[in-house]
Amino acid sequence: MPVVPEVLFRGFGHWNLRHRSGTLGTSGTHGTLAPLALSHRCITIAVVITRVPSRVRDIELPPFDPLNIRAAELRAAGHHVISLGQALPFFGPPPSALAAAHQALDNREVHLYSTDPGILSLRTVLAERLRETLRTDASADDLIITAGANHAFTLALNTLVDPGDEVLLPAPFFTNHEMTVRALGATAVEVPVADCDTFSVRWSDLAPRVTNRTRAVVLCNPSNPTGAPLDPQEGGLIVSELARRGIMVLSDETYMHFVYSGSHWSCASVPAWRSNVVVIGTFSKSFGMMGWRVGFMLADASICAEAVKIQDAMIICAPVISQMAVEGAVRESWDYPASFHADLLARRQALIDGVRAIPRLRWTPTAGAFFGFVRVDGCTDSAALAGALLEQAHVVTIPGSAFGRSGEGHLRLSYGSASVEAVRTAMERMKTYFAHA
Ligand SMILES: Cc1ncc(COP(=O)(O)O)c(C=O)c1O
Repeated sequence: MPVVPEVLFRGFGHWNLRHRSGTLGTSGTHGTLAPLALSHRCITIAVVITRVPSRVRDIELPPFDPLNIRAAELRAAGHHVISLGQALPFFGPPPSALAAAHQALDNREVHLYSTDPGILSLRTVLAERLRETLRTDASADDLIITAGANHAFTLALNTLVDPGDEVLLPAPFFTNHEMTVRALGATAVEVPVADCDTFSVRWSDLAPRVTNRTRAVVLCNPSNPTGAPLDPQEGGLIVSELARRGIMVLSDETYMHFVYSGSHWSCASVPAWRSNVVVIGTFSKSFGMMGWRVGFMLADASICAEAVKIQDAMIICAPVISQMAVEGAVRESWDYPASFHADLLARRQALIDGVRAIPRLRWTPTAGAFFGFVRVDGCTDSAALAGALLEQAHVVTIPGSAFGRSGEGHLRLSYGSASVEAVRTAMERMKTYFAHA
């Protein structure tokens, strides 16, 4: 019997989690298989896994899929499950996008590649809109159309960061940011924000963690998972202090259209933004077009000219029919996301009321995106809590630990896709759960 290192069991445990029933319990089984219990097939898998570098093997998948799979199982068994889990809006694409997609089918060019950075007419009109929304001076040459925000982030990171560099992630962070940094072989440095009430990122959080190996800081504004927008003064300070040190700011502004008090403040509005700011954006959430896979990277044209090499090697161009659909939305329906603010605020109010009615929960409502990052008094294992809430209350929540160590003791509750009634019912069920827990 060959000796199989313990690390293989870790990888094997993940494989089980993804490809078996997906039940939550399997996530805690790392390293528990005894070598004698391994079948021939298991050994083959283990040998193959040794060829996967540890920078990939050691990345943990977030618990979203297992939770959703379990929710589907419960629904199939006849239970009424409410999801406050997924970061989805309740609406789909605007009619202008669908009309443009229909029209695109008769356009021969839809079957071809576009240029690497994306269709010029789309980049031109998008730059025009972003100049107003972000208060920046961007032009078409400063934009690359990508296959969504995650792809834009991967593109930016591959262009600007070397393996071994340090990348600071104010925490709680968006899980995929950390995964991407690690996949590149860079070091993800978790920087907990000091203000756990507002979750606002401050320069004083970041300054002590900057070293001569720091290459980039990732901001998420407004934040997934906390919903906190960046304070404009602090944002300006962060961008300029990092510029002085030659450090890049990768600012994921996926939720730029969902700021409910005042207007969105972008890092690209700093007059000297071109020296160190990259903004990541997407049509997934604001235009209800997750499956169309279109986003963008906004950076000075000199950075885009380098990034386009990676774009060419990775995907050549974003899906052309999706680019055409999005162009319709940008031209005709730029205010579409704002038309849902009142509805989202009603859902948010239902969440505020529900949290207030549960003594163990604490949340200072944040003014952006569609999340509450709710502290649970006495909770030290948010994954177990989310599992119990799903099994016993039939409510999907996301454990705070999925967003970094500093997220432990919290749950992320999304009000983006659940109706007011569904949020109320979910919170009633959680109240009953906590009354007996
Ligand atoms: C902050 C943030 N960035 C990126 C993404 C991924 O977006 P896309 O579908 O455009 O890749 C999400 C999705 O939840 C997100 O919340």
